[in-house]
Amino acid sequence: MTDILFQPVTINGLTVKNRIYLPAMHLGMAQDYETTDQIIDFYALRAKGGAGLICAGYATVDELSGNTQNIGAHDDRFIPGLHKLATAIQENGSLACLQLNHAGRYNFSFFMQGKQPVAPSAVASRMTGETPKEMTRDEIHETVNAFAAAAARVKKAGFDAVEILSGTGYLISEFLSPLTNKRTDEYGGSLENRMRFGLEIMEAVRKAVGPKFPLIVRMNGNDFMPGGNPRKELREYAKALASGPADALCINVGWHEARVPQIVSCVPRGAFAYLPGASRRASMSPSLPAIASMTRKRQGS
Ligand SMILES: Cc1cc2nc3c(=O)[nH]c(=O)nc-3n(C[C@H](O)[C@H](O)[C@H](O)COP(=O)(O)O)c2cc1C
Repeated sequence: MTDILFQPVTINGLTVKNRIYLPAMHLGMAQDYETTDQIIDFYALRAKGGAGLICAGYATVDELSGNTQNIGAHDDRFIPGLHKLATAIQENGSLACLQLNHAGRYNFSFFMQGKQPVAPSAVASRMTGETPKEMTRDEIHETVNAFAAAAARVKKAGFDAVEILSGTGYLISEFLSPLTNKRTDEYGGSLENRMRFGLEIMEAVRKAVGPKFPLIVRMNGNDFMPGGNPRKELREYAKALASGPADALCINVGWHEARVPQIVSCVPRGAFAYLPGASRRASMSPSLPAIASMTRKRQGS
């Protein structure tokens, strides 16, 4: 088979048998954050399908980061269930990754017993119709630590890699974007300040999992948000990640509030496939694996 899709690739020492990556999908199939047989069966079947690396999740880092139907990674009690999930993927032929995410102002108070969602600034979300609470610096530091602790659990549970979601309009991208980050402290203002939260998380995760555990960062190549991050800023972020803690970038597009069509059946095949290459070039790391999470072009097209 000469198609590069079926050739192996290595991510920080982890050899993946082919370049087929199943990106994360929160399935709403967890119960009280626990991995269920339904989730295990879903991913076991996908592993049998031949993907080299499967990214399950997203999984939560604390109780404000998702809801009880998300897979939980914010407490040690979830490790046995996570272990079962990683094993089911591996025993059926794929390598297993788990995505961690904090929904920030995309979370609904409805799902959190009335608690107010949190964000860098109190900017209302068009997706939820709610206005989040601005995080204090202590809360920011606690959240950085929560990502690190959750990543350590992912490793302990037997996954081969961890992915951190820092796009799509969730918490890390809310810090990155001038649209949702109106802070005047060291986490707001300049691009350097707006990147700080994401980079602190990645550094803390790296410390928690050690130098040899693959860390994939998912981020937008284009957020499709007027007034949001220009692509130049996203390329700068890619560069900072690649020159620091990230072993691979997984590039997707758009925030949930964006008006640009993104769903597979609404856009031509491979419509956004130019973005991962652009991010890799911007990262100045020519060998950095860049994952395209949008339908691949057909051979010859
Ligand atoms: C039901 C569903 C849930 C999703 N949940 C997540 C998620 O939790 N994290 C994430 O990064 N992407 C999520 N996505 C986006 C997918 O990972 C993927 O980027 C999207 O389906 C486009 O991929 P494709 O064009 O290659 O099919 C979700 C998609 C679907 C359909």
